[in-house]
Amino acid sequence: MCGIVGYIGKSLAAPILLDGLRRLEYRGYDSAGLATVSDGRLETRKCAGRIQALADLLKKEPAPGGVGISHTRWATHGRPVDENAHPHADGSGRLVLVHNGVIENYQALRAQLVEAGHTFKSQTDTEILAHLIGKLYDEARAPHGKARLLEATRAGLKQVIGTYGIAVLHLDVPETIIGARRGSPLAVGLGRGEHFLVSDPQAIIAHSQEAVYLKDYDVAVVGRDGFEISTLEGGIAGSYEVTKVDFTSDDVTLGEFPHYMLKEIFEQPHSVRDALRGRLSKDDASARLGGLNMTPQELRDVDRVIITGCGTAYHAGLVGEYLIEALGHVPCEVEFASEFRYRNMPMDKGTLVLAVSQSGETIDTLAAVRESVRKGHRTLGICNNVASTIARECGAGVYMHAGPEIGVAATKSFTSQVTVFTLLALLLGRIRHQSSSEGLGIIKALEAIPAQIERALETSDQIREIAAKYVGAKGMLFMGRQYNYPIALEGALKMKEITYLQCEGHPSAELKHGFIALIEPDMPSVFIAPDDTMFESNLNSIEQVKARRGPVIAIGTEGRKGLEQVADDVVYIPRCPDYLSPLLTIIPLQLLSYHMAVHLGRDVDKPRNLAKSVTVE
Ligand code: F6R
Repeated sequence: MCGIVGYIGKSLAAPILLDGLRRLEYRGYDSAGLATVSDGRLETRKCAGRIQALADLLKKEPAPGGVGISHTRWATHGRPVDENAHPHADGSGRLVLVHNGVIENYQALRAQLVEAGHTFKSQTDTEILAHLIGKLYDEARAPHGKARLLEATRAGLKQVIGTYGIAVLHLDVPETIIGARRGSPLAVGLGRGEHFLVSDPQAIIAHSQEAVYLKDYDVAVVGRDGFEISTLEGGIAGSYEVTKVDFTSDDVTLGEFPHYMLKEIFEQPHSVRDALRGRLSKDDASARLGGLNMTPQELRDVDRVIITGCGTAYHAGLVGEYLIEALGHVPCEVEFASEFRYRNMPMDKGTLVLAVSQSGETIDTLAAVRESVRKGHRTLGICNNVASTIARECGAGVYMHAGPEIGVAATKSFTSQVTVFTLLALLLGRIRHQSSSEGLGIIKALEAIPAQIERALETSDQIREIAAKYVGAKGMLFMGRQYNYPIALEGALKMKEITYLQCEGHPSAELKHGFIALIEPDMPSVFIAPDDTMFESNLNSIEQVKARRGPVIAIGTEGRKGLEQVADDVVYIPRCPDYLSPLLTIIPLQLLSYHMAVHLGRDVDKPRNLAKSVTVE
């Protein structure tokens, strides 16, 4: 949520900042801005709208200079208008600052500053931080310079309650950018004769593949030729690893696809293969997940699993619940991370907590991890971003290896998460009740999945035509049972977030307990009805919808007859065991939401009001 890019080096800063912002635009896209230092002046350009609006502004009013900070915003405090865009300046106009996060006590700080004579131009919490640090700098007795700015930043941040990742620039020290983090990611990107300060190294992938991630309460002083990291209290920070960024520019470009979402949907045969790579052991007829750091005895001692996450990750957790109970024979529950963190669930020694997060930065999931760790529970991360805060704080877990996911609507991360849950369920099951031949059967079925996803993707043209028929729909209902009940939820979420249609997901059999009242000709229902033990029951529910003139799109299994007689449209997926069917049934639903959104002229990769990676509460 929001993106920060800072640059100090030998090149012109503005083009590098702009390019970085474009790469981070999916993190927030309601306004953008930058400030550079040139000839002893701060050149600030900012405006509401997308990065392109900022690029257009820079064409008219260039911002020269080799040092600068920039920001793309997802509004929390204050509407997305020009004056609320970052950077924000202090009272003297000599300091500028960009900020990700939320300053919770900003009203109290603002009142104190107003009392002291400060006037504010925006409605943001960030501007308060700029004024506060600026004031502390101006009032300090130390000589003007780097040390004085560092101290003022520390002193200001100590008064703050809330979360932040910030970059600060001051005219008195134009050769320095100061960064600090608490709760919002920030990293120093390394170069020769140039350095970067970024909320995500993806922003600078074209310039640097090495980064040092800041920890909470770290403060970084970044210069052209180096950087120093210390703590908020002024101590020496612990040791730092240089992390190699393990993807290339190609991984974050569109290639032949019109949208990242479509690209990522079509990457799923590869991403699922990557999640399985090296993790299936035919010798043991089981899964090998070394990152768990758990002995077979410790795994056997697990008597309850709690999965926590948000949004799509939560839905993957719901599939995980079915898998871990059916294949692993361990009681399992799933809880929204935002509830888990406050719920105070009774958990005993044998409880294993699994935190699922593509970004590894989602604030609620991170808070759930911290709560679980605080209570002494073994807490594992299932993350895509290897260097993320959740991955680091869990210390153990399973990486998804899905590659960067740029589309705001999560797609490939979902199937990677479900794949990881299948591996975990296999491992838990083989330690308990499963025979080696059962284990080998699961391995064989899993190995076939990437090629089956490829076949499921071949339905894209058919789905584009189906979507065209329903562009006038006022909403959509999604239904499924057992393993495919979470797929109904995920299908509804995908559809609503990128088409803005009102959508609901339910277990099919709940239909007659209430939401059947919604059925009418412009409210299509999508039934996920593969050839499993629930097939006949799904067929009954479809009949009930048809009897009330509701259109039906069904997702069925190749070779299983019956759906075409009752449904208006049927999309077939390859045959697989019922426990793996979510990995295939989700594909047509992702495609359906994508094609509907395109037909409706929506901004698929940047749907309104949303942003990737929710780092504020
Ligand atoms: C939906 C979507 C969100 C995320 C959720 C969790 O398409 O992208 O619901 O799944 O914000 O994000 P992560 O997995 O990064 O914790």
